[in-house]
Amino acid sequence: MKVILFGATGMVGQGVLRECLLDPQVESVLSVGRGVTGQQNPKLREIVHQDFTDFTAIEAELAGCDACFFCLGVSSAGMSEADYRHVTYDFTLAAARTLARLDPGLTFIYVSGTGTDSTERGRSMWARVKGATENAILKLPFKAAYMFRPGIIQPLHGVKSRTKLYRAGYVVAAPLFPILNIFFSKSMTTTEKVGRAMLAIAKHGGPVRLLENRDINAAAGVPASA
Ligand SMILES: NC(=O)c1ccc[n+]([C@@H]2O[C@H](COP(=O)([O-])OP(=O)(O)OC[C@H]3O[C@@H](n4cnc5c(N)ncnc54)[C@H](OP(=O)(O)O)[C@@H]3O)[C@@H](O)[C@H]2O)c1
Repeated sequence: MKVILFGATGMVGQGVLRECLLDPQVESVLSVGRGVTGQQNPKLREIVHQDFTDFTAIEAELAGCDACFFCLGVSSAGMSEADYRHVTYDFTLAAARTLARLDPGLTFIYVSGTGTDSTERGRSMWARVKGATENAILKLPFKAAYMFRPGIIQPLHGVKSRTKLYRAGYVVAAPLFPILNIFFSKSMTTTEKVGRAMLAIAKHGGPVRLLENRDINAAAGVPASA
């Protein structure tokens, strides 16, 4: 399986990249980012790209892939709706439309989050924008598209958030994760499970297009190399 990964430098993307590189069924990973991960691995190739609304210049590199794991995203904290929509909707749809045209046999997996608003009409700005993004992706002619809606994600294996505030939060919360896991296991997942679930869904498909946190954890139960 040939994978394209957006957001590989981020917390979710680092976790997904790790699982991809460990999976013998993943032949190659092409990371597209505004910077590089700096990781050295024979399976990994990195493209540095600056304009996430236009992928024309790198189209030739994006053709012929089997799965795209789209983990690029920002926190809406302190952002206007227009700015948040630009990164969340415009960037994602520019990539998704390009890939749907180049790779009709591709499975596209997008990371949104628990509480995403499919009606696009609720009170929460981020949830409306993520909902609009999911809905637009689901209309594209991919082989299949799946929306991942994780709840709280515990970073494992040295994975770190790009967001300073979250990084500090995870350090403080680290000793609490085992306890939180006992009481809130249905709302919690890990970077490892998200990565394994993406690989399992890309390989075997899944019964639902919108995967809530419990569905992600269930999908992660399928051994990545099965
Ligand atoms: N973390 C959680 O607990 C959690 C829970 C539920 C859902 N999610 C969702 O998962 C997605 C990823 O979150 P994360 O925690 O991995 O975030 P993160 O650690 O902040 O990483 C964000 C990623 O997006 C890229 N990115 C951000 N702004 C960009 C821009 N303007 N142009 C190009 N690339 C940009 C970053 O690249 P750079 O390295 O170049 O900045 C990085 O690769 C988000 O959509 C988030 O809403 C996260």
